[in-house]
Amino acid sequence: MAEADALLNIETIYAADDIARRLEELAGEIAAKKPINLLVVPILKGSFVFAADLLRALNRAGLNPEVDFLTLSSYKKSRTSSGQVTILRDLDLHVEGRHVILIDDVLDSGRTLAFAKDLIAARGAGIIETCVLLEKQVQRAVNIQADYQAFTCPNVFVVGYGMDVAHRYRELPYVGRIID
Ligand code: IMP
Ligand code: MG
Repeated sequence: MAEADALLNIETIYAADDIARRLEELAGEIAAKKPINLLVVPILKGSFVFAADLLRALNRAGLNPEVDFLTLSSYKKSRTSSGQVTILRDLDLHVEGRHVILIDDVLDSGRTLAFAKDLIAARGAGIIETCVLLEKQVQRAVNIQADYQAFTCPNVFVVGYGMDVAHRYRELPYVGRIID
């Protein structure tokens, strides 16, 4: 169960091997739907580790999607959401008529994923699905649910496995919470 990282004072919530196991299942669920003309869109920066592992699990599950990246910003340097989502770097690829799976690290207020979904829908994507590592158990600011989620997570601020606070801790191979 929970183990403390003495140096950084971080408590593990989801260990690396638990995440790896869950991602194989998730990839199997996605592949079972036999998506056609699939484009996987990791929402950067926070999803980069999750997306890298999930994409390789998708390959093992028999899928060969195209991949493009969307960089959005909603969290600045603080732990609280600014509430406003902006595009920092847009997609290169066109999405019209395609099956798009948006990948994000955390579904929290829902604003980031809703913004991305609306953007891709406005560009004429055929099927839009969403896949998150963590679905936080909180009241969302906007009404959105993830189609795929690795874990539901209590309402605590998490770091690691790509997720940061002030650009730190992304390199941790597990998801943890900073013990204040
Ligand atoms: P939302 O727009 O409020 O749903 O927030 C989603 C985005 O906020 C995610 O893509 C994360 O980058 C960031 N975020 C939300 N909660 C956390 C957290 O606990 N740790 C790190 N980043 C978070
Ligand atoms: Mg993010």
